[in-house]
Formats: sequence, structure tokens, C-alpha cells
Amino acid sequence: MKITVVGAGAVGASCAEYIAIKNFASEVVLLDIKEGYAEGKAMDLMQTASLNGFDTKITGTTNDYSKTADSDIAVITSGIPRKPGMTREELIGINAGIVKTVSSSLLKHSPNAIIIVVSNPMDTMTYLVHKTTDLPKHRIIGMGGALDSARFKYRLAEVLEAPISDIDGLVIGGHSDTGMVPLIGHATRNSVKVSEFLTDEQMDYVVQETKVGGATLTKLLGTSAWYAPGAAVSSLAHAIACDQKKMFPCSTLLEGEYGLDDICIGVPVILGKNGIEKIVEIELSEAEKTKMKESAEGVKKTNGLLDV
Ligand code: LAC
Repeated sequence: MKITVVGAGAVGASCAEYIAIKNFASEVVLLDIKEGYAEGKAMDLMQTASLNGFDTKITGTTNDYSKTADSDIAVITSGIPRKPGMTREELIGINAGIVKTVSSSLLKHSPNAIIIVVSNPMDTMTYLVHKTTDLPKHRIIGMGGALDSARFKYRLAEVLEAPISDIDGLVIGGHSDTGMVPLIGHATRNSVKVSEFLTDEQMDYVVQETKVGGATLTKLLGTSAWYAPGAAVSSLAHAIACDQKKMFPCSTLLEGEYGLDDICIGVPVILGKNGIEKIVEIELSEAEKTKMKESAEGVKKTNGLLDV
């Protein structure tokens, strides 16, 4: 299993680190346009191998896509991250050009790769990869819902004063401050609905804090977060590499599912060796359906800014 991670910034390096620590890939190639940067990150990470007990070989390259040849999975993290006060949507101008060039360069050398898109605005970048490559839809996966769901579980655990392992929850919709739809009505603590334990105010707090989860971190850090995004990517890659058939919310092209069409947006999917093996359609309440519809309108508005 060879995995390429494009972009050796904080998110890309974190993806490489978590993939290596989980020890399911033989090789990770980090690629960056900044001279020597990916090589440096790769060397630093490799010097943790004996300490962290992994055998994955991590190498770095300055923009030489021939080094990424025959990757099974390619992760696109490149582009500019948001600064405090910026929305993910504001990054579209610069990042669309980058994602288009990166995906075509990757596919020239790895025509069979499954692509995981991380660059923001993520749902629109995932749609862009659909529009500008001829990859089948099951091989284009947008990473957002897995991260947003992890942040949702973090906030649920906080208010429930419970360990995270007690919590289950799912965030669907667009990966944006206004577009996320945390499914609080479906969230559970050990199979018991969280509404049994929490007040309406507490549930509102969880939903609001989840939706601005990325923005909260951007404000604290001065740039966007990297540990949880890296861990989320590594979980998706692990599910694909080990054909786990695990369910994650991911951004995928919808063709009628959830009443939506011609859009990439977060919905639960089954991930296995072929990438997205199934889109899972769950029963939503009327309120959740309305939120999903509004979220889709927001994503389509951003897609409208693309030159495709
Ligand atoms: C975040 C970025 C990765 O939510 O979109 O942290």
C-alpha cells in the first residue's frame, strides 16, 4: 500500500505521521512545492520510526510526481489554509487552481489511485476533482465529515462528562461553519440517545460548537488545525487500505440520494478497498432534511464560483 500526501504543511505532515503510526501502509510519499520541505518533514518523521514503532517508509519530494507513481491512495492537502476570521469559502480562488493541477499530476503517475480531498472549501474542491478528471465517483472522497464528527463527539463527551469511547455521533452536510448538520437527534451514549441526559441548551451548545469547531481552532492557533484533520484522513485511508467496510460521513457525488443531485456533500458512506462502496441513506427528521437542503444550497453557491 503506497500513499501519497500532497502538501507537507501541518495537515499533510500530520496525515503522514498518523498513517505511519497506524502501520498499515508500506510507503508514504510526501510532496510539496517548497524546495526541501517535504524531504525535511519526511526525514524528521522517519527519525521517529524506531521510537514510535512503525515500519512505514516515509520519503519526501519537491514537486517530482514521478516519485508518487503507482500510489494506491493520494491525499490532497495543498493550498492555503484559512486565517482567523476567514471562511473556508474565501480560499476558493487560489485553491481551485492548485487542486486542479495537483489532481491531474497525481493521476498521470497513479491512474488507479483513490483520491482523498482535504483542501478547502472541501466539498467544492471534491466537486472540482469530479469535474476535471474522469475518475469514477467511488474513487473521489472528500474528508470533512469524519473530522466534524470527531469534533462533535469531543463536544458531546465534554457536556456529558463522559469518556469519548462512550459516544457515537455523526455530522453530515457541507464542511463549513454554516453547512454542517450535526445529527444530535441520532447521537448516543452507549446506545442511549443523548437527549435522555442533556437539556435543550446543552444540545444547542454542542451543535453550535461543533459547527464552528474549525473556526475556534483557527482563532486559537492563527491558522487552521492539523492533528484532528490528519487523524481523520488516516482513519479513512486505513479503512480503504484494510478493506474495513467502515462507515464515515464523507463528501461524495450525489445523484439523487438525499434528494440531491450534481453536488458533493457529506453523507454516510461505506469505505473499503474500492473507496466509497456504498452511500448510506438514513432516515432524517423534517428539520434535519431542511438543514441538509439549506446546506446543499450553500455548497452549490460556492460551486458556482468554480470555472468548470
Ligand atoms: C478544519 C479544516 C481542515 O476544519 O477544514 O480544521
